[in-house]
Amino acid sequence: MHLLALSGSLRAGSFNTSALRALQKLAPKGVVITPDESIGALPHFNPDVEMSELPEIVAALRQQVAAADGLVIACPEYAHGIPGSFKNALDWLVGSTDFPGKPVMLINIAPRASHAQAALHEVLTTMSARIVHEAGVTVDMRDADAMYGLQAGLSAFVKACKGARVSV
Ligand SMILES: Cc1cc2nc3c(=O)[nH]c(=O)nc-3n(C[C@H](O)[C@H](O)[C@H](O)COP(=O)(O)O)c2cc1C
Repeated sequence: MHLLALSGSLRAGSFNTSALRALQKLAPKGVVITPDESIGALPHFNPDVEMSELPEIVAALRQQVAAADGLVIACPEYAHGIPGSFKNALDWLVGSTDFPGKPVMLINIAPRASHAQAALHEVLTTMSARIVHEAGVTVDMRDADAMYGLQAGLSAFVKACKGARVSV
């Protein structure tokens, strides 16, 4: 099984990216979690560009999404919303025919932040992603038991993705 990890932060020392890296190490046998590395380099979304010639980097991101059994998203909150660079990536994925129905696990590493998570739920649901609610985790990465929370979420997510494969 192949999962694609998408971080909503471009910061080198990002806690969200580090949660995704931790998840990679927690992955059970047979599950590979690959980090996306394109989000910071995507051009600004423009429907005219999308309709004329899809930039190679966008086509590659869509291909990665298509090939993944599920998406794991860890995204910070900026000014009570989704960071612009991450929303930009989601906007490029609206036109992906493979996005609808894609299982999504949401990780929130800031228990005090709820606006961005709510916005992500709204946007992803509008894009017809299949948010796996039982896999969603809110963990404080400074807590000793954060890894248990991530592991439990991943385990529920892998189970849901396996179910999705069977029902396709
Ligand atoms: C521009 C900016 C706006 C932020 N706005 C919020 C906010 O509205 N609510 C909140 O809880 N944290 C906010 N934060 C804090 C970030 O969510 C926090 O630093 C988080 O760890 C950033 O994620 P990262 O470590 O993965 O880069 C903001 C940070 C920045 C840089």
